[in-house]
Amino acid sequence: MTQPLRVAVTGAAGNISYSLLFRLAAGDCYGSNQPVILQLLEIPPAMKALEGVVMELQDCAFPLLAGIETSDDPKVAFRGANQIFLVGSRPRSKGMERNELIAVNGPIFVGQGRAIQEHAAKDVFVVTVGNPCNTNAFIAMKNAPEVPRSRFTAMTRLDQNRAVAQLALKTGKPVSAVENLIIYGNHSSTMFPDFANAKVAGQSAVQAAGDAAWLQGPYLKTIQQRGAAIIEARGASSAASAAAAAIDHMRDAWFGTGERCVSMAVPSDGSYGIPDGTMFSLPVRCKGKGQWEIVKGASHDAFAKAKIAETLKELQDEAAVVKDLCN
Ligand code: NAD
Ligand code: LMR
Repeated sequence: MTQPLRVAVTGAAGNISYSLLFRLAAGDCYGSNQPVILQLLEIPPAMKALEGVVMELQDCAFPLLAGIETSDDPKVAFRGANQIFLVGSRPRSKGMERNELIAVNGPIFVGQGRAIQEHAAKDVFVVTVGNPCNTNAFIAMKNAPEVPRSRFTAMTRLDQNRAVAQLALKTGKPVSAVENLIIYGNHSSTMFPDFANAKVAGQSAVQAAGDAAWLQGPYLKTIQQRGAAIIEARGASSAASAAAAAIDHMRDAWFGTGERCVSMAVPSDGSYGIPDGTMFSLPVRCKGKGQWEIVKGASHDAFAKAKIAETLKELQDEAAVVKDLCN
């Protein structure tokens, strides 16, 4: 019998987790031969609701679900964890930018970073979903200096999935025909989907769309504002699509992507002029078991360079705001 993987999820009674946990337990992330033990973290007022989620997980009788543990203490929830989904934090409401959440959410990732360093498994790999996710991942990484920094990532896969889907709709091709559509920068309204290096059915995306002005204008704006549009329509932020993207992110990190490139916010190594250590979404190739490399060599025209500079500036401003949380 394969040893179970210990998978910690924070914010386990929240909206994203209500989709995420069931997919993790069903084998959608780590495969149909890999048992998992779910280690679920919540804050005290949500522990009762978490009991209900646990009952529902039990009621699914998932064959791969080898155990469920719950706690309101990150030291307990992260004990021996191999894989960690940092979801728990407040979502924005209508009219807010994600970085307005820094004051309320940033401090959460100080204690959680420390708890990861002290209690998680040596091979721990972390995705941060809670917003503003790049900066929260940065805070957690800075508070776990003994954990290799490559183990900390933030999720821009939802933005990639949105960018792929919109391009597929425009060109009338299936989503599977869209390749190498990489998000650069911050998971925010400055993110940049690099359509110029993308392909649709083997053809340049710009040619396939046949409309450069659309790509630089309405397309870009739709991707950058998609989260806000969902809040406006649903009255709540994206949840099932966020859970699906978190599964995509962690599954690719676990199994590897081969030659395929995916978007992940990772600590930069200086590639593309992004200062070392900045938690920046870049083209990444995953080699499996949480190992990844930044794919270098994409060329960017003046338009792309200006957009990448803008999103970098925003992240640097956020880093200045959280400086005191990163000592
Ligand atoms: P939600 O309010 O439904 O659930 C959040 C849960 O986190 C709540 O149950 C809350 O009790 C819990 N929580 C709060 N503080 C915690 C702490 N310190 N430790 C553990 N749990 C804690 O929110 P949601 O819709 O699940 O969204 C969660 C976060 O994910 C938000 O910040 C949201 O903006 C973000 N998000 C990110 C992306 C992305 O693409 N990166 C996509 C969607 C949502
Ligand atoms: C999203 O992109 O859907 C999430 O980051 C939620 C939000 O605040 O937009």
